Amino acid sequence: MIKNLFFIAIVGGIITCACSKISSRKQDEARIERRVDSVLKLMTLEEKIGQLTLFTSDYDVTGPTLRENYKEDIKAGKVGAIFNAYGVDYVRQLQRMAVEETRLGIPLIFGYDVIHGHRTIFPISLGESASWDTAMVRKAAQIAAIEATAEGLNWTFAPMVDIARDPRWGRISEGAGEDVFLGKCMAEARVKGFQGRRLDDPKTLVACAKHFAAYGAAQAGRDYHTVDISERTLREVYLPPFKAAVDAGVGTFMTSFNETAGVPSTGNRFLLTDVLRNEWGFKGFVVTDYTSINEMVAHGFAKNEKEAGELAINAGVDMDMQGAVYYNYLKKSIEEGKVSMATVDEAVRRILRIKFKLGLFDNPYLYCDNNREKYEVMTQEHLDFARNMARKSIVLLKNEKQILPLSKEIKTLAVIGPLADNRRELLGSWSAAGNWTQAITILEGIRNAVSSSTKILYARGCNIHDDTTLYIAEAVNKSRQADAVILVIGEAHWMSGEAASRSDLGLPGVQQQLADAIMAVGKPVIAVLLSGRPLTITKLSEQTTALLAAWFPGTMAGPAVADVIFGDYNPSAKLPVTFPRNVGQIPIYYCMKNTGRPMDPDNKYTSKYLDIPNTPLFPFGFGLSYTSFEYSDLQLSQTILKASDTLQVRVKVKNTGKYSGEETVQMYVRDLVGSVTRPVKELKGFKKVYLNPGEEQVVAFKLTARDLSFWDIHMNFTHEPGEFKVFVGGDSEHCLEMGFVLE
Ligand code: NOJ
Repeated sequence: MIKNLFFIAIVGGIITCACSKISSRKQDEARIERRVDSVLKLMTLEEKIGQLTLFTSDYDVTGPTLRENYKEDIKAGKVGAIFNAYGVDYVRQLQRMAVEETRLGIPLIFGYDVIHGHRTIFPISLGESASWDTAMVRKAAQIAAIEATAEGLNWTFAPMVDIARDPRWGRISEGAGEDVFLGKCMAEARVKGFQGRRLDDPKTLVACAKHFAAYGAAQAGRDYHTVDISERTLREVYLPPFKAAVDAGVGTFMTSFNETAGVPSTGNRFLLTDVLRNEWGFKGFVVTDYTSINEMVAHGFAKNEKEAGELAINAGVDMDMQGAVYYNYLKKSIEEGKVSMATVDEAVRRILRIKFKLGLFDNPYLYCDNNREKYEVMTQEHLDFARNMARKSIVLLKNEKQILPLSKEIKTLAVIGPLADNRRELLGSWSAAGNWTQAITILEGIRNAVSSSTKILYARGCNIHDDTTLYIAEAVNKSRQADAVILVIGEAHWMSGEAASRSDLGLPGVQQQLADAIMAVGKPVIAVLLSGRPLTITKLSEQTTALLAAWFPGTMAGPAVADVIFGDYNPSAKLPVTFPRNVGQIPIYYCMKNTGRPMDPDNKYTSKYLDIPNTPLFPFGFGLSYTSFEYSDLQLSQTILKASDTLQVRVKVKNTGKYSGEETVQMYVRDLVGSVTRPVKELKGFKKVYLNPGEEQVVAFKLTARDLSFWDIHMNFTHEPGEFKVFVGGDSEHCLEMGFVLE
């Protein structure tokens, strides 16, 4: 009788459409609620369970494939969302099955891991975060949304906002690094970039904050491993970027694979209901990670999949990704009274709400525009932006004798290393629909940048990760003939990302041996490091004349690296994560606690190692420029502060070098005494300033009592009176400092 609910929804849409322009957001929401309820009333239990089910298509695979017949499931109304399917024709074909062949015609959502670009690939998220440029990062997400929606998608499994302080964990590459404040800023920028102003704008995607929560705290940096941290650390370090995502209006959340203190996230009611919904007021839906309901059996948290499903939905999980647990068992659980209809209805409501917000009930083919697919993907504008984003992500870690920038007129340049003429690795992990064959290699970028008279001598030198030393001699030979050497080394793209933990963070294979041989030639060497994480490159950093951390720079890697090497761009990026000297120092991050026995080199019984300093190889926030910046005249508007006051912090920053350039001015604080101990430094603000040679600017920050608040001994988020220090500088180690008192 009711052949197609889609028509009902359209009629509802048309009737209300005329007033939508003048209606406020609240009225919009009320209208959506009415429409959600009207759909829900028509649904059978099977159809409801279908809405809670997400299956992968066979188009792309990002985990084990359990179900081959997802198309039959769509037609039977047994699936409400599909991931890993893109391309307008394909998406339209699947959407048509849902809309035209099911009883109610409820449209599907189409999700995909659009993490750092869709077709045009930007630097990996950790690299983007090294730009500390929230406007650029937001724009990168916006472009990713334009390209992904042009290919039929409307949901991205991003941003990953997991704080990560252990570079052995390969997924450190997917986030914003180690810091809470920077992590919050990047979370907000990415959510806003993906989602834009309205979800029913066909150029925006609904975002998904993942992986909730504390996935980055996996023991020993081993992926999927156990997490056991205090509620204080959870709230202070791991949750804030998720809260920032909620505040930015994120539409969906994804649970994490790990357990925290004995409870897997997918069955964690405290996280999913008490914190996310009741404390933070999140109104969107929660999806599991890939089969993570099923995995609660292996965790030893549920005796079988049916029980795991009950734990998940009762904890607050709305949608089951790929596990088919709700699909197989939820009906029975309801019949047995283990799950209430009200719980199921609420989960369905949350999902339908997002479908309405995406405009799918008004037009299920809103994201199926062949023209857009043709003209809005990998445009020149997107490629230009990708080049700029990539060069802004490259961190200059060393520049002895100001060897960089190199002259484009250099006579002979040797370009050496397994990543120099390599296209495959440039996109990094999770490169969505990015096609590595369209990436520009670093060798190509260099060739295009230098003068016509420059001779380029290229040699691979070795492979990324085997022990063949056969090609080293040729590389040495070519280096001998050159005036300078560019050595492009690092990791393969698959060495970071999911299921890519490493216990040794040195250069893979025989690359250090290659580096040793090249250094022995005695020419200036510029090392360009490609990696998804900090590597332990102590030796390399001592040997090399200059060192650039370029992460995985994406489609425009070559031009971006060349822009930096030859000075068309003056590097401005700063490390979003500490580089350890060796694996034994891990976890090492700047905002550590002081301990009761802070390091004293003259006292054996203090907190230190026998064989290595406590300091990192490169600290958080560090990054050089071709120019130099001088900090002076740190001023506070007052040194005694009431809780209602706003402290103004000012500092003078001067460009004292020869090049124009951008500096990221960082402000940190330390609360000297608390009811619980506080870190030695915490980032509380940063600002980017562009200065010409000789130019000086006063950079100002504000601090309020809220910025000084933390989870106190009673687990209240509050500030405590006492002495504080404020630090301002160009990285977390080199700062001017002043004290103040909060009354
Ligand atoms: C598993 C990963 O952990 C998650 O980040 C990703 O979004 C899903 N697979 C889907 O591909």
